[in-house]
Amino acid sequence: MSKTYWVETYGCQMNVSDSELMEGVLAAGGYTQVASPEEADVILVNTCAIREHAEQRVLGRVAELNRVKRMRPSTLIGVCGCMAQRLGAKLIERAEHVDMVIGPDAYRALPTLIDQASKSGAVVDVELDPAENYEGLELRRKSQVSAWIPIQRGCNYRCTFCIVPYTRGAEKNREPDAILREIERLADEGITEFTLLGQTVNSYRHGSWDFARLLRAVARTPGVRRVRFTSPHPNDLGPDVVAVMAEEEAVCPQLHLPVQSGSDRVLKRMARRYSRDEYLAKVELLRRAIPDIALSTDIIVGFPGEAETDFEETLELVRTVRYDDAFTFKYSPREGTPSTRMSDDWLVPDPVAQDRLERLIALVRQIAYEKNLAEVGRTVEVLVEGRARRGNLLQSRTATNKVALVPGPDAWVGRYLRVALTGTTGATFTGFPVES
Ligand code: 5AD
Repeated sequence: MSKTYWVETYGCQMNVSDSELMEGVLAAGGYTQVASPEEADVILVNTCAIREHAEQRVLGRVAELNRVKRMRPSTLIGVCGCMAQRLGAKLIERAEHVDMVIGPDAYRALPTLIDQASKSGAVVDVELDPAENYEGLELRRKSQVSAWIPIQRGCNYRCTFCIVPYTRGAEKNREPDAILREIERLADEGITEFTLLGQTVNSYRHGSWDFARLLRAVARTPGVRRVRFTSPHPNDLGPDVVAVMAEEEAVCPQLHLPVQSGSDRVLKRMARRYSRDEYLAKVELLRRAIPDIALSTDIIVGFPGEAETDFEETLELVRTVRYDDAFTFKYSPREGTPSTRMSDDWLVPDPVAQDRLERLIALVRQIAYEKNLAEVGRTVEVLVEGRARRGNLLQSRTATNKVALVPGPDAWVGRYLRVALTGTTGATFTGFPVES
């Protein structure tokens, strides 16, 4: 009988892609996927360490999986990803039913690690490997419509709040040829939308290739209709990349450009390496070249030393840029990051941070709603991704990365439609297909 697996994913798009990689490795090792953790010989939980809250959720879930293990003691439970890397063997002390702790650079060895765990007990592999970029491995992709393409792993920035450089190590970039061959092959199979992934994706560099060159080459690959990339660091966003975005039809008019704060004082302490004005100049550059570009961002409130006036500068920046969407977070101290060594006097009390978060969310929502309301009545092109979870509708996506729910048959999955946007909840649209 073949061995079975179940993979659960928490965290960022890179983790979603890493899970596809893990599933690919397992499939190549003779494992088949099952429909629930209760049926699996191996359960892997791909985790996130970005904030305390993310880790708490995962720990809760891992504790819950102990129930599965009690009913079926032969099941092996593995914790993978950034939290595994951060905690290593300590994870097994906290949750004794965990059999494997596997860091982001150890997925190639999954079948071996599983064998070891089943024969001789708990295994921990959290060795970061500067050479591992998983070249040559087949991903087990979930979508036949769009594909995540990791082009870079790790990060060379040292933003003082961020754990990622420690859990994923230094930046490593894949060979451009390998990336382009992979995209050609997927395009041949009928996938038309591609999202290039990296922690600071636009710092990509390999030999004479930089990100602008790679992006253009991807956009020009036959069969490629839509290209996105995430997440760029504002510092590496220059006129060359903006020109490619403007000139290449396939590059979507959309960018997630994390700002983190609108205050120069805070940006400096975060070691973001740009000022508020420099960031706003990049936004200008983008809007001049791509007038209808949709912009989203990440913002942290309550970073050590953030005064009310700093926070107001963040609000003001949000009003200036008028983001289509923003992910907002309360600062969460991560052990080992430089920001945890800042003076205790700088700590922002939780009620203050909570209040700022709520004010920020209200503003972000208001602006998103106004922007989306202004789009109702327009006819846009969408790509149908699949069935929506509710309401017997199809879920589709605009070039600006917004979701539109439309009526239609399953046979339309993977197709591009012209859709009249008829309404918005604030975040997503409803629409109706129109003759083109
Ligand atoms: N606390 C709160 N938010 C954080 N992020 C990263 N590290 C932290 C932290 N320690 C946020 C940033 C980043 C996003 C992925 O998560 O906004 O862009």
